[in-house]
Amino acid sequence: MNPSDDSEHARDTSTADAAAENTGAGSGFVVVANRLPVDLERLPDGSTRWKRSPGGLVTALESVLRNNKGAWVGWAGVPNVEVDPIIEDGLELHPVPLTADEVADYYEGFSNGTLWPLYHDVIVRPVYDRRWWSAYVTVNRRFAEATAKVAAEGATVWVQDYQLQLVPKMLRMLRPDLTIGFFLHIPFPPVELFMQMPWRTEIVEGLLGADLIGFHLPGGAQNFLYLARRLAGQPTSRGSVGVRSKLGVVQVGFRTVRVGAFPISIASAELDEHSRRRSVRERAAKIRAELGNPKNILLGVDRLDYTKGIDIRLNALEELLVEGRIDPAHTVMIQLATPSRERVESYIQMRGDIERQVGRINGEFARVGYPVVHYLHRPIPRDELVAFFVAADVMLVTPLRDGMNLVAKEYVACHSGLNGALVLSEFTGAAAELRQAYLCNPHDLDDVKDAIVAALEDERDVKRRRMRSLRRQVLAHDVDRWARAFLDALAQDQVAGSALLTDDDVYPEDREPR
Ligand code: ADP
Ligand code: F6P
Repeated sequence: MNPSDDSEHARDTSTADAAAENTGAGSGFVVVANRLPVDLERLPDGSTRWKRSPGGLVTALESVLRNNKGAWVGWAGVPNVEVDPIIEDGLELHPVPLTADEVADYYEGFSNGTLWPLYHDVIVRPVYDRRWWSAYVTVNRRFAEATAKVAAEGATVWVQDYQLQLVPKMLRMLRPDLTIGFFLHIPFPPVELFMQMPWRTEIVEGLLGADLIGFHLPGGAQNFLYLARRLAGQPTSRGSVGVRSKLGVVQVGFRTVRVGAFPISIASAELDEHSRRRSVRERAAKIRAELGNPKNILLGVDRLDYTKGIDIRLNALEELLVEGRIDPAHTVMIQLATPSRERVESYIQMRGDIERQVGRINGEFARVGYPVVHYLHRPIPRDELVAFFVAADVMLVTPLRDGMNLVAKEYVACHSGLNGALVLSEFTGAAAELRQAYLCNPHDLDDVKDAIVAALEDERDVKRRRMRSLRRQVLAHDVDRWARAFLDALAQDQVAGSALLTDDDVYPEDREPR
């Protein structure tokens, strides 16, 4: 697969027959994720086509799977459709069907109305609904059964993210011969928040079906280790599995489950090369010209999600404009927002709030033909997105909580000229590595405003020094290194747990003073 493919454009896939031929003996390496790397799209004329799926998980794993050919088990992104397996660029895609009710209860409900807000520090109140839980169990079982059919004898299976936390245990019961890894792409919550969950024991036990459980940061791994001991180790009405844990290792009966921190990343070298292309540079210059050649371009790039703090950066901009610390004649902000989870109530409400905020700022500060905030609610083709990263003087990444945030790393990879500045929330996983960014606390609006002003006004040499350090980190710690670290650890029988949990790699430096 080619990550530079346009997100909106149809993807070339070969036929189901070819995939069926290929699946005879099963696959030795299988990725299992809620979504396939491509989504099926229904066009108004009733026909269908494949397009790239949204989100950081696909960005990261698509790149890894180009180097480790195998199979990918996931949902095709639309309800009530049975699709045969297909092959794309040598990768087998095995669609798992979901009914419309399952999309509502398992995906929009339990995954994104319960787990997502709970794991993101309860920014929105999680809903605990027994029907949603029951759909989550049913769909996780379907994923486990589909994977059991696809995996070859003794295969390695890598289960991804919060939508599929029961799959490791279910799969182990079906196929004890498999080596099973699990990686969580979002934060793992503090113990006292996780304890709200009515089905907390089932989830911890579900994850303990894996041989290796990976989190972005050591803090998440430590939270999980504590919970494994506290929940799975206790006798419960549902029965206990008898668990002992020490740093990095959980003993589940006779099995050893390893737990570690593996901060995810991007295909840095490839993006660096992409951003240096003449066509991209020319497009970046054209974007600036089309905006009326402002002195400063601020950029936000996100799924439209309440965790991303889009409202916070707009509030900061508005106050800076009111106070006269930013001049609307010389400054433009671009917010690119991919539609996400559009039927979930909290997302509907947030979209309305953000669009009103954009309208208010432009109503107050724009001139005819020159909006201060440009807002696009659609996925942007990859080439164009890279040109936006190159054009931006300041990148605004202000989540209230984010497991990693790949956008921050993508921006850095696109600035080989050492220009540009990254404003980054301390509550992203990326902040643990990118200590030379303009770090800010998104709960403290003055801090966010000061970080934006510093990123705009610091001396050129200061910004270059910061960007050089950021680039060193991002280019050295790419997504292949992440995948290799995880898969090597999974392949080893014994890894000292504490070795998986050292902070050295993820906390290289302290916060840079402003
Ligand atoms: P998440 O996984 O929560 O969506 P990340 O920042 O880790 O957040 O990853 C988002 C991925 O989606 C990145 O690769 C980013 O470039 C891409 N992306 C985000 N917004 C857009 C957009 N408006 N158009 C195209 N791609 C986008
Ligand atoms: O890790 C973040 C994540 O939820 C991924 O699991 C997912 O692929 C991505 O964001 C996009 O979300 P969704 O699949 O709900 O559109």
